[in-house]
Amino acid sequence: VAAALDARIRAAKRALGERLVILGHHYQREEVYRHADFHGDSLQLSRAAAHQKAEFIVFCGVHFMAEVADILSRPDQISILPDLNAGCAMADMASIEQVERAWTELRSVLDPDREITPVTYVNSSAALKAFCGDHGGTVCTSSNARKVLEWAFAQRPKALFFPDQHLGRWTGHQLGIPLRDMPVWDPNLPLGGLQPEEIRSARILLWKGHCSVHQMFQPAHIQRWREAHPEGKVIAHPESAFEVCAASDYVGSTDFILKTVKAAAPGSEWLVGTEINLVSRLAEEVRGENKRVEFMSPMVCMCSTMFRIDPEQLAETLEDLVAGKVRNRIQVPPATADSARRALDRMLEVS
Ligand code: 13P
Ligand code: SF4
Repeated sequence: VAAALDARIRAAKRALGERLVILGHHYQREEVYRHADFHGDSLQLSRAAAHQKAEFIVFCGVHFMAEVADILSRPDQISILPDLNAGCAMADMASIEQVERAWTELRSVLDPDREITPVTYVNSSAALKAFCGDHGGTVCTSSNARKVLEWAFAQRPKALFFPDQHLGRWTGHQLGIPLRDMPVWDPNLPLGGLQPEEIRSARILLWKGHCSVHQMFQPAHIQRWREAHPEGKVIAHPESAFEVCAASDYVGSTDFILKTVKAAAPGSEWLVGTEINLVSRLAEEVRGENKRVEFMSPMVCMCSTMFRIDPEQLAETLEDLVAGKVRNRIQVPPATADSARRALDRMLEVS
């Protein structure tokens, strides 16, 4: 069955030729990943989406990524997500209604339009990117968060960072901001559950959001592994908890993780804290050089929404395109797209 699906995908790709480009995030399962024309982390894929000539951009990733492809591509290009249920649970932790309410509530303490730059992690809906575009803010990814926050602080003295508290906290820490100056805003509590004084003294207000995949990693996993592998190195994605990032030797985006381990000396040993499909593929790729790559958690931490995209759906999506039928188009309403593009363009300029 797998070989037949592979053949169907290849045949449809051949039939579509230059009319099609497939973008694949590093967390995709191997049977899908191998058919992508470009692989990358979120920033690389956003850039790739902005530079495509193809009529159809099929995004093997999650919903917000296909939205970014739609926003950054030309109006005559069509962005497609093979499974509309491939969302990002973290992106769903901040809704536009909650963020607008937070902004309004903040007005009772200070003037957010003058004092706070809103920064949304790219793992968010187009509506949130549009909010940032309209309020002098921007977007970041895991690979440019530091530069983006530096930019944010050059605009206004504080930042509101959503939806991932962990990426915000780790990046703030890299900029030398003490943890006490980065309180967590809980959107389910009045005034985020904070005292007015905490808001006035905050540098970054961190939204109470997280990735349930990266939340599984714990400092104890690192400690145990280091005891057994004293020469080994630990590398984690910044969506992991602060204590995990602090206990790691390296912290960075999916692409950074892949490049760092691939460039390491033959025979080296690595403990990797990010999604299992990436880690398994990496382990396989470097096995020949005698490098050993282990997954950080004893539990299987998989991005189940990325996993929704399977070779069968990819084959059907492409075959429909060959037959002149577009399924699962992702189309951001023009007004939202214009504001979101402003925020994304600021990010691309800064990084
Ligand atoms: P990257 O930008 O590092 O690829 O991260 C995307 C993501 O969703 C990680 O969970
Ligand atoms: Fe979202 Fe986490 Fe999946 Fe990344 S790994 S796409 S943050 S749910």
